[in-house]
Amino acid sequence: MDLNTIESDDIGTVAGQPAARATAAKKVFIKTYGCQMNVYDSQRMSDALAADGYTATDAIGEADLVLLNTCHIREKAAEKVYSELGRIRDMKAERADAGRELLIGVAGCVAQAEGAEIIRRSPAVDLVIGPQTYHRLPDVLARVRGGEKIVETEYAIEDKFEHLPRPRRAEIIKRGVTAFLTVQEGCDKFCTFCVVPYTRGSEVSRPVAQIVAEAERLAEAGVREVTLLGQNVNAWHGQGENGEEWGLGRLLFRLAEIPGLARLRYTTSHPRDMDDELIAAHRDLPSLMPYLHLPVQSGSDRILKAMNRRHTAEDYLALLDRIRTARPDIALSGDFIVGFPGETDADFEATMELVRQVNYASAFSFKYSPRPGTPGADMPGHVPESVKDERLQLLQALLLKQQQDFGSSLVGSSIDTLIEKPGRQAGQKVGRSPWLQPVIVDEKAGEIGDIIQVRITKTGYNSLFAELA
Ligand code: 5AD
Ligand code: SF4
Repeated sequence: MDLNTIESDDIGTVAGQPAARATAAKKVFIKTYGCQMNVYDSQRMSDALAADGYTATDAIGEADLVLLNTCHIREKAAEKVYSELGRIRDMKAERADAGRELLIGVAGCVAQAEGAEIIRRSPAVDLVIGPQTYHRLPDVLARVRGGEKIVETEYAIEDKFEHLPRPRRAEIIKRGVTAFLTVQEGCDKFCTFCVVPYTRGSEVSRPVAQIVAEAERLAEAGVREVTLLGQNVNAWHGQGENGEEWGLGRLLFRLAEIPGLARLRYTTSHPRDMDDELIAAHRDLPSLMPYLHLPVQSGSDRILKAMNRRHTAEDYLALLDRIRTARPDIALSGDFIVGFPGETDADFEATMELVRQVNYASAFSFKYSPRPGTPGADMPGHVPESVKDERLQLLQALLLKQQQDFGSSLVGSSIDTLIEKPGRQAGQKVGRSPWLQPVIVDEKAGEIGDIIQVRITKTGYNSLFAELA
């Protein structure tokens, strides 16, 4: 899937929070696990529920409906959901004693993969809804309130985008000056480690008109930076406004025309779908940020083959050469898996060597986690956990060093920064560099939504400090 996982904070104390409500309006608390697409989906569920009279809350103790938007990409993600459900079940029981209802829903990829099993394992759950059917949430809730338990896991993705309500202007403004926009969902690649083709279904691209309309709406509400999302975003294709078949490159050229949208990004891509027009977009579009997340997973051709990636390490490096020729200041990010079945020390060393050659600005790396139902899970030669640990440590140390070197290389240079939000410390604001690093500036440097030129003065662990250039 190649979407970076961002674990959201734990809820903390679930039981014992105040249950009082200020108004009679129903409230929904949505907790999001996993990738940016789940973040986007949670917002859209929130939009759909708003049409059904729910307001969103950040306090689980106020909620009449708790939705967990789950991730199935690695083992720990699903286990976390089950332990969270245990805590929410206790809260539901306390509520019932006080004569008030609390509905519990599980959405996302665990919902899709586990279906009715979730209700068997956690009987307090009222509804299980897969990612392709979020537009049916209001109907499903009506049936749940009528006493049914619902498991809704059909693949009906074309319907989803057609029927979800448009993001509301007030909500867009609240969500800030950067936004996600899903353009493609699902995957037909079937990498042998990955559950995504099973949980998100086969590849579907949203139509051009829908995407352009949503991007325009975001821009009108003040969004400056849009990240196009897809499990295989560069496999996106559709019929353009001129009747021709468009790929992602052409779509980016179109979106770059929208007034107010100063920055475009897309994630996550597969190396096999980087076509000439997309590379041309990197060459010709100043608003397409010079930062590319292009996962390779392994540097060993033997392992790449076993993973069904359908390219070699050499293919990947040659592709990067072409991209860097088109856009010399582009910085690379990637995903890696260590300890795929059959991975030897030599295979792992090939990964380390590839990382040394590419020099990543940032990257995500994971221990292989067998996913039931995927071909990798049944392959021989599973790697002991201790070996995976060792390899992960070595790889992460190398990637961290590259990330820090990249940050240091920017000290003294002037870069554009999009001011995003107030800083954690008084007197500061936080911006975002073209390469997604947080940039800490004086709060008087500009207003939220401004793009300003700053000079980098020093680096933090994960951020840059800057002054007005
Ligand atoms: N085990 C470990 N990592 C995985 N990823 C996907 N499936 C697995 C798995 N079974 C990683 C890949 C992908 C990222 C989102 O998660 O590196 O690009
Ligand atoms: Fe990405 Fe491969 Fe998973 Fe598709 S099957 S989502 S390409 S890792």
